Amino acid sequence: MDRIFIFDTTLRDGEQSPGASMSVRQKLEIAKLLKNIGVDIIEAGFPISSPKQFEAVKLISETVKGPVIAGLARALEKDIQSCYDALKDADKKRIHTFIATSDIHLKYKLKKSKEEALRQAVDAVQFAKSLVDDVEFSAEDATRTDWEYLKDIYSAVIEAGATTINIPDTVGYTVPSEFAKLIKFLKENLNLKNTVISIHCHNDLGLATANTLTALKSGARQAEVSVNGIGERAGNASFEEVVMAIKTRKDYFDFYTNIKTEEIYPLSKTVVSFTGIPVQPNKAIVGENAFAHEAGIHQDGVLKNAMTYEIMTPQSVGRQKSLLVLGRHSGKHGLKQRLKELGYEVKDDEFERIYTKFLEVADKKKQVFDDDLIAILEGELNILPEIYSLEYFSVVTGNSIIPTATVKLKKNNECFQDASTGDGPVDAVYKAIEKITGIEVKLISYSINAITHGKDAMGSVSISVEKDKKLYRGYGVATDVIEASVLALLSAINRILHNNNMSNLN
Ligand code: KIV
Ligand code: ZN
Repeated sequence: MDRIFIFDTTLRDGEQSPGASMSVRQKLEIAKLLKNIGVDIIEAGFPISSPKQFEAVKLISETVKGPVIAGLARALEKDIQSCYDALKDADKKRIHTFIATSDIHLKYKLKKSKEEALRQAVDAVQFAKSLVDDVEFSAEDATRTDWEYLKDIYSAVIEAGATTINIPDTVGYTVPSEFAKLIKFLKENLNLKNTVISIHCHNDLGLATANTLTALKSGARQAEVSVNGIGERAGNASFEEVVMAIKTRKDYFDFYTNIKTEEIYPLSKTVVSFTGIPVQPNKAIVGENAFAHEAGIHQDGVLKNAMTYEIMTPQSVGRQKSLLVLGRHSGKHGLKQRLKELGYEVKDDEFERIYTKFLEVADKKKQVFDDDLIAILEGELNILPEIYSLEYFSVVTGNSIIPTATVKLKKNNECFQDASTGDGPVDAVYKAIEKITGIEVKLISYSINAITHGKDAMGSVSISVEKDKKLYRGYGVATDVIEASVLALLSAINRILHNNNMSNLN
């Protein structure tokens, strides 16, 4: 079996995503994670493009030992020299130089003839080769370049010493069958004894992973990828998709990578947090829903054997477990399993009541969370007594007065009343409740959803609050959103009190 070299460009092309720029320190942290996960080549940046890029490539070269560290350079002496200066201290260094080759780029961008571009490419590779042994050459926009010209330019740079030739699908234009033919054409027409074919696919048509895998199947041996698929425009082929496709379909692909796939998820999370670019929930491998099942039939299958609906285990990519998401499509099996995981063994007749209530809630909410389930259990099984209940509230508000709330609560048949002002009506009622109960909380999240339609729609309010470093959820439903907010805070406070009572008993 052949080994596929994973060339990660998260720190270079990935960082070219709008808004993705990372600090030098963050780049170094990512480079360390890329090393640990087993990446073969880390493209650390484009040194001439800015002092920060230079600094990052230099720091990574000095610090991260093991993988090859690559820097990008246009086919210009000053770029290549700067790239070398930044890479100098790397144990294994690669200069990656490129020039555009398609007619449209030559005519409008470079204003050069094919011959001029070919000469410049050869000069660049020769100069890079005078500095380092490991030189990669890319013909930018290769997939929109005349094939005969591509053959000529790659042939010339191989002659000049390029050890990797990269075939970029710069604008995400090619399709798998066409790309496969191009790779085969180059393999048949070039002297590749000491040179590796690499591919670098963009995702403008959503084909980057498919094109990458097809090219590997056709003979390419280096895949240029980025974590979470970030990169120019629609991004690059995604690291996790390419690596997991190779691993999961080893029966089909006759090659492997050296990636420790169990580290994929933490790496993806770090890239999200450093770049601020989230991944969509349904993103393959690393999206929140990639191992989540909602449909009853699927949940039933997964509970019997996870492989019925999962082609890889969540653990194999560093995630904890599959999620059975409870919603209106879930069946009894999924609910029973979740209750069990929450530590509730319920009798059959109780379960039927809970299931009916669950369906009512699921019809109103997109997703039924653990706290909703606990609220249902508490209501149906009377597990949590209602310590404080709402008797009455009123809020005076407007655009020119300070919102003022009066709240009356009942506890053990005794009523307590107080009033407060606040920044808004919800703040005012919350402060009044805190005064009455003597429990001050920090509001961590607050969300309102309409759960029925029309002017008299029911509103649901979900909150989470922090008390003594613990998080508590609260949930309330009413036609009035302030009332729903009051009920949500009361349920959270009741939970806090219940929790305190229980720990006092222990
Ligand atoms: O997309 C592209 O063509 C590139 C090259 C510099 C390899 O990023
Ligand atoms: Zn690119």
